[in-house]
Amino acid sequence: MARSLAVVVFIFTSLHSIGHGETWWLLGLQSQLVETWSRVGIIGPSIHSQCNELQGLSHDQVRFCQMFQDHMLPISNGARSGINECQHQFSQRRWNCSTANDKSVFARVMAIASREAAFTYAISAAGVMNAISRSCREGELDKCGCSKAVRPVNLDKDWLWGGCGDNVDYGYLFGKQFVDAKEEKNAAKGAKQKARREMNLHNNEAGRKVVQSMAGVACKCHGVSGSCSMKTCWLQLANFRDVGERLKEKYDGATEMRHSRRGKLHVANEKYNEPTNYDLVYLEQSPDYCVRDDRTGSLGTQGRFCNKTSQGTDGCTIMCCGRGYNTYKQEVVERCHCKFHWCCYVKCKKCRKTIDINVCK
Ligand SMILES: *[C@@H]1O[C@H](CO)[C@@H](O)[C@H](O)[C@H]1NC(C)=O
Ligand SMILES: *[C@@H]1O[C@H](CO)[C@@H](O)[C@H](O)[C@H]1NC(C)=O
Repeated sequence: MARSLAVVVFIFTSLHSIGHGETWWLLGLQSQLVETWSRVGIIGPSIHSQCNELQGLSHDQVRFCQMFQDHMLPISNGARSGINECQHQFSQRRWNCSTANDKSVFARVMAIASREAAFTYAISAAGVMNAISRSCREGELDKCGCSKAVRPVNLDKDWLWGGCGDNVDYGYLFGKQFVDAKEEKNAAKGAKQKARREMNLHNNEAGRKVVQSMAGVACKCHGVSGSCSMKTCWLQLANFRDVGERLKEKYDGATEMRHSRRGKLHVANEKYNEPTNYDLVYLEQSPDYCVRDDRTGSLGTQGRFCNKTSQGTDGCTIMCCGRGYNTYKQEVVERCHCKFHWCCYVKCKKCRKTIDINVCK
């Protein structure tokens, strides 16, 4: 056990070296870490020193860690699912949320108050809320259980309300307290830092609001021989994939903001509406992510796959930034000429096929 703990400490210590942008959800980027957490558990008196070793956490987050030890695993898993979803949603874009090689690169991207930062904050706040809400329902946490949400007024009166639901209220409140505690008020000095803090808080909230608004009623039938004469219903979180899709739309429609001398945000272009709590906001233009740039954390798109026929962001024109692409032939083996045999199996042949692979110059 002692050795496993040492591993945890080592991983956190190495996370510490990433400087600006170092933040709690980087914990979610390391799957070994998540596993170590669940295997070792962090219990007993060592919790205080353990929580202090978590270098990505703010002072207040360390206190949360000490008080709510059992919440740390869902937080870590929630952050991980946020990052996974980010990578899924952006897999066809120049900036693809990749973090595999160099976490400091990711931190540098987050240092810019861009749309990408806005999305990343929102999806990770959403991931934590989601994971905590579900953990309550699963009975994994001391402080919460099934949802106590009141019966929706429009629910058919014959249906029972009160199945064990996802505790969206608790997930929202705890997620808000924990995640937003990273944005310490006193740490933000000067208008620019204050504005960035406002931006982060707004986008965290947008992530949670989207999770909250997408939770809905789920029901199960009872009754004699599948007649569904009775239904029991409860509150259930939406698929996290759908939350990702919604936040991706919010990313595309994000509002550019400016800040006052006191760091308050307002819409950059007065023709546009004030963003709602569900919208994402950003302060700085994104780099184009076309070429490698260590200052902005852009990895560039050289070597990325592109699609010759697509007009979208995965198309070679956009993905390769006009530099062109190389085409390679690749042989793939597919199942083909499949036949259904009575009864009951399918038999296929293997066919070889040559396809073109396009790679940005
Ligand atoms: C994401 O982009 C990086 C840098 O361009 C690239 O190395 C990586 O393979 C990409 N990941 C995916 C899943 O396309
Ligand atoms: C390439 O883009 C076209 C048009 O959007 C699409 O129909 C096709 O499935 C894409 N091919 C691949 C390999 O993704």
